[in-house]
Amino acid sequence: MKHEVVTLRGMVVHGDGYGRKIGFPTANLSRHGWARLQRKPRLGVWAGWVMLEGRPQKHRAGIVIGPRDRRGLPKLEAHLLDFSGDLYGRQLTFCLVAFLRPFRKYAQEADLMRAIQEDINTVRKANI
Ligand SMILES: Cc1cc2nc3c(=O)[nH]c(=O)nc-3n(C[C@H](O)[C@H](O)[C@H](O)COP(=O)(O)O)c2cc1C
Repeated sequence: MKHEVVTLRGMVVHGDGYGRKIGFPTANLSRHGWARLQRKPRLGVWAGWVMLEGRPQKHRAGIVIGPRDRRGLPKLEAHLLDFSGDLYGRQLTFCLVAFLRPFRKYAQEADLMRAIQEDINTVRKANI
């Protein structure tokens, strides 16, 4: 696993709730800071940590730097492994530690769910 830490900081904004529907809720980060980022991370799925502003804990997370939308901005979202609760409006820091795989399209929702579960297992075991 190649380690190249990139940090992203921003507010949690409302997503479309699809992650929650398939059992993997994600916190969607505002993309306001993306254009100003000096080092842009590779698009895809990452293992990393998420920190909540003003709190000392770090939470393991599967982080998605998603495909770009038509404005050229990628989705920035994280599924926190050991956290459940409302993060809307909170300031988060994503630490991207290990690149896992490129984002891909799945024909079946079940295949996507299986892939995400594998990612989460990898994050849980990752030496990060
Ligand atoms: C760790 C993780 C990996 C994911 N990988 C993919 C992926 O490879 N392909 C995909 O379509 N969605 C993936 N998802 C789900 C998307 O991030 C997102 O929730 C889903 O695509 C909803 O898209 P929409 O907001 O455009 O409806 C992943 C989610 C997590 C938490």
